[in-house]
Amino acid sequence: MTPSQQSLKAAEICRLAPVVPVLVIDDLAHARPLAEALVAGGLPALEVTLRTPVALDAIRAMAEVPGGVVGAGTLLTPADVKAAKAAGAMFGVSPGATDRIIAACEDEGLPLLPGAATASEIMALLEKGYTVQKFFPAEQAGGAAYLKSIGSPLPQVKFCPTGGISLKIAPDYLSLKNILCVGGSWVAPKEAMAKGDWAAITTLAREAAALPRSA
Ligand code: 3PG
Repeated sequence: MTPSQQSLKAAEICRLAPVVPVLVIDDLAHARPLAEALVAGGLPALEVTLRTPVALDAIRAMAEVPGGVVGAGTLLTPADVKAAKAAGAMFGVSPGATDRIIAACEDEGLPLLPGAATASEIMALLEKGYTVQKFFPAEQAGGAAYLKSIGSPLPQVKFCPTGGISLKIAPDYLSLKNILCVGGSWVAPKEAMAKGDWAAITTLAREAAALPRSA
């Protein structure tokens, strides 16, 4: 898969909804009902972070939920990329970008949303052909104001900012022309998952799915 094919696919996934839930799943039994709750609320693209022992099995379980587009986040090594693809991930997300991660995703045919936080990192990815990037950690790295400024010299790069974003501040990002969607964990609070309160998660997903965006 070439970088431009990767970016086309990443843009398609980012355009599915204004918010991509960033999920940390501790209990495999939560995977399927969580995916069902989020998809029912209007958020089909789901990022399962590879930060827990059950993450790959969770991707496997969630990939079977109708209407869901499940990806793997926190990709750090080529082995992560292979394992994510084998588990059924439809896309990958990395907090930063390395040549090895990029090559592994291109080889495996796993569309990648590569992370960047500075103008030089964004330009390095653009040089390789990646026009859709994750901006991480969004709030700490300069937030919506930073992305608005970056849009002047680099309007051809579109972003999915992630890190510290809430329902309240998501509109600051989504009103920018260079933002396709935002990522965030607020739609799947740990307490609601622990209680199995899937209806509460669907309500949060509905609110997030209704956010307007301009890109
Ligand atoms: C992460 O990698 O944890 C994401 O950026 C989610 O960040 P959040 O928990 O601040 O939404």
